Amino acid sequence: MTNAKIYDVKPDIAHNAHINQETYQTLYQRSIDEPGAFWAEQAALFLTWQKPWQTVMDCDYSQGHIRWFEGGKLNVSENCLDRHLADRGDQVAIIWESDNPAHDKKITYRELHQQVCKFANVLKSQGVKKGDCVCIYLPMIAEAAVVMLACTRIGAVHSIVFGGFSAEALKDRILDSNCQYVVCADVGHRGGKTIAIKANVDQAAMACPDLKSVIVIKNGTENVVWHNGRDIWYHEAMQGASDQCPAEAMDAEDPLFILYTSGSTGKPKGILHTTGGYLLYAAMTHKYVFDYHDGDIYWCTADIGWITGHSYMIYGPLCNGATTVMFEGVPTYPEADRFWRIIDKHQVNIFYTAPTAIRALMAQGHEFVTRTERSSLRILGSVGEPINPEAWEWYYHVVGDARCPVVDTWWQTETGGILITPLPGATPLKPGSATLPFFGITPEILDSQGNVLQGEADGVLVLSCSWPGQARSLYGDHQRFIDTYFKSYPGYYFTGDGVRRDEEGYYWITGRVDDVINVSGHRMGTAEIESALVLHQHVAEAAVVGYPHDIKGQGIYAFVSLNVGVQASEELRRELINLVRQEIGAIASLDIIQWTPALPKTRSGKIMRRILRKVASNELDGLGDTSTLADPTVVDAIILHRANQ
Ligand code: PRX
Repeated sequence: MTNAKIYDVKPDIAHNAHINQETYQTLYQRSIDEPGAFWAEQAALFLTWQKPWQTVMDCDYSQGHIRWFEGGKLNVSENCLDRHLADRGDQVAIIWESDNPAHDKKITYRELHQQVCKFANVLKSQGVKKGDCVCIYLPMIAEAAVVMLACTRIGAVHSIVFGGFSAEALKDRILDSNCQYVVCADVGHRGGKTIAIKANVDQAAMACPDLKSVIVIKNGTENVVWHNGRDIWYHEAMQGASDQCPAEAMDAEDPLFILYTSGSTGKPKGILHTTGGYLLYAAMTHKYVFDYHDGDIYWCTADIGWITGHSYMIYGPLCNGATTVMFEGVPTYPEADRFWRIIDKHQVNIFYTAPTAIRALMAQGHEFVTRTERSSLRILGSVGEPINPEAWEWYYHVVGDARCPVVDTWWQTETGGILITPLPGATPLKPGSATLPFFGITPEILDSQGNVLQGEADGVLVLSCSWPGQARSLYGDHQRFIDTYFKSYPGYYFTGDGVRRDEEGYYWITGRVDDVINVSGHRMGTAEIESALVLHQHVAEAAVVGYPHDIKGQGIYAFVSLNVGVQASEELRRELINLVRQEIGAIASLDIIQWTPALPKTRSGKIMRRILRKVASNELDGLGDTSTLADPTVVDAIILHRANQ
């Protein structure tokens, strides 16, 4: 990597930035040398506490025990709303841009505060109490922010399920987190199409006997099936609700939300984040990573169903009193210039999106970008998967006109916020590298035996010190939390990612080292997809791997062997694709199904995924040792079938 291209820090950006090269070094050193004092200062700077904490941190990775600011009391909605009212009550908090380019709306901090208080009272009137879990299954409408913040106001824990997940996936998540309340919409709108939302809730609810109420936001004109006694219209309930609702005093370590994400084994994991540390980390990273200044218009394109939507569309920006843009639609509707048009329309200064979107738009040609101005842009961000240098350069030169630093931010659902990233005024950029650690973050690279590698190195990425935004547990299964993240390399948090460090200490994330794939920035467990495939009566066995895909980053490649006597057919292929979509959701669309008479297995019956990954990636020369296979001829058959596709 010696020859990696470098883009120096821009003097005009550095001049006005919160953090420059010198302050980064000093502050980083202090955050490592005196973490207790450093984080206490930041917590006092960024958040308003009802009562100060007793202990800054108390962490023991061997027990998965992570506590920050214990004893401190605060409320998230108060930090995101009430404290801004005196100075910026009339400032726009949320700019909502509809799927239809003719519609948008602006909501001030005062209006948002009022709506949040009202909805908090609606929740209370439904019987929701502090500590109860509320499932949110919503499209990208402004009310989603109201619902999230209303939960935090009364100390309810939200569990947002991405609107693209199927009824089946929704049901699993409702049951796993024991949610008795669901907030949904009748329908959603994306790319000019109407998407059924409530119908999925109705279907999921059939298997959720403890569900007490479903609050429905009217977002369309069509009639929906109604369940009297269970379903409540949001607008009707809001009408009579008071706009006075005191914010519940929460302990810093009280749960804030659960968010499900995929792991390498079967069931999705309910990542649990708590109140004080999470909010501090989201707010602080939002301010420094995007060099956010008062008055900036900030837009993160993520869906609220993912951690990026939680931390960088809602909690971080609102905690900092920012104006945050929320977009209901897709980048290509009505045309492939939609992102850039929205930037011009709302004069967006900071834009944060995913490599898959950048690649998809890059494939449409420059013209969609160059016919717009984009002169308001100052900072560009990327998240979700490694960004290939070609896409980085296009983003930087074509979208940003070579004026705006690109911050490639590496993090995870589990980390709550960004851990490895450039800071716009401090870090020279290398396209494709997430660069350097944020304050308080201590990445290490280990070899497969768990030895710490120094200097230039290639291995697995772990973190030795805790940070306030770190997940605290997996909901209902603390042992799995310990086993997944703290067992493989004792003393470290194991990220599941591979990484390389270059001679200047820059980090280059190389992708997952476990059976998790990243499709268009969506994290999926191959085991979940396999479980869905084998539900089909004709499928004997299935193995799923990722393979390089120009737009999606990784595509889904399934090797499927059928029961004896069953003929492969186009119809069966379609059935399997639909089955997986039905079990998981539209994000799990199989790209390739390869029929195979058998799967390559070791003598002990373990599927040799290494070989399947190579076949899927068409790296047939590097298959490695196949002598431990029970039947090495299986590999020849698989290769032959691939060649015939
Ligand atoms: O493999 C890494 C990849 O996405 C994974 C985390 O996925 P998720 O929990 O869904 O969170 C996505 C949004 C934070 C990581 O383990 N990843 C995320 N950001 C980057 C990345 N890989 C490379 N570069 C990134 N900037």
